[in-house]
Amino acid sequence: MASQITRKEYDLAPLKNANLPMIWVLGGPGSGKGTQCDLIVKKYGYTHLSSGDLLRAEVASGSERGKQLNEIMQKGELVSLDIVMDLLKEAILSKLSTSKGYLIDGYPRDISQGEIFEKEIVPCTLILFFDAKDETMKERLLSRGKSSGRVDDNEETIMKRLKTFHDLSAPVVDHYKIKCKTFSAELPPQEVFCAVSKCLDAIQQQASA
Ligand code: AP5
Ligand code: MG
Repeated sequence: MASQITRKEYDLAPLKNANLPMIWVLGGPGSGKGTQCDLIVKKYGYTHLSSGDLLRAEVASGSERGKQLNEIMQKGELVSLDIVMDLLKEAILSKLSTSKGYLIDGYPRDISQGEIFEKEIVPCTLILFFDAKDETMKERLLSRGKSSGRVDDNEETIMKRLKTFHDLSAPVVDHYKIKCKTFSAELPPQEVFCAVSKCLDAIQQQASA
């Protein structure tokens, strides 16, 4: 599928020279990645880019590529890496002139996505991993599904998303454990954020020392 799509060339030199924090935000479906990113943006002003949101925007555009993406997301599987990488590169570069650093939410989804990002874009500086039980994540998504309109917030797809997470995405955390900070995502959002803030404050202090 991806091979039929002409890929653009991106000049990433300005991003590399800017030397901004590049934070990956990982966790299972419904662990609270988006919720925590919203809180981080409010306090720290980082640029939040969610690979899932970028893909949903492509679907909403009504493009042929969007139709193919929707089918894959409806199955709870991962879409082609080329597509995600191009959407991310474009979004990262479009925000470069005003960004204080990036939160890349929901990427990488497997180890190879991480390796390619670091090779083609810039190295990741920190990983925030939100850890929650499957039952917790399932309940949250079923509840959100009553109003979200997301094609993947139904019981069948949620079970597939959880399987994809355990099979492919969870190993990323182990692979990058030196860069990774793990947070219990079972607590209420503000309590999770309190722990995240302590970590980000410490990193900002180190950077300015
Ligand atoms: P994506 O959009 O990334 O979805 P996801 O990983 O399944 O996670 P969600 O966005 O559903 O949950 P979240 O962790 O952001 O939690 P949220 O804060 O919303 O990806 C969707 C699909 O796109 C994938 O399945 C795949 O097909 C494709 N895709 C995406 N990235 C890809 C990639 N890199 N490569 C290939 N394919 C890719 O919270 C969920 C709910 O819980 C909300 O209602 C919220 O209010 C509530 N909540 C949050 N935190 C708490 C808390 N602490 N306590 C109680 N409730 C809480
Ligand atoms: Mg999300």
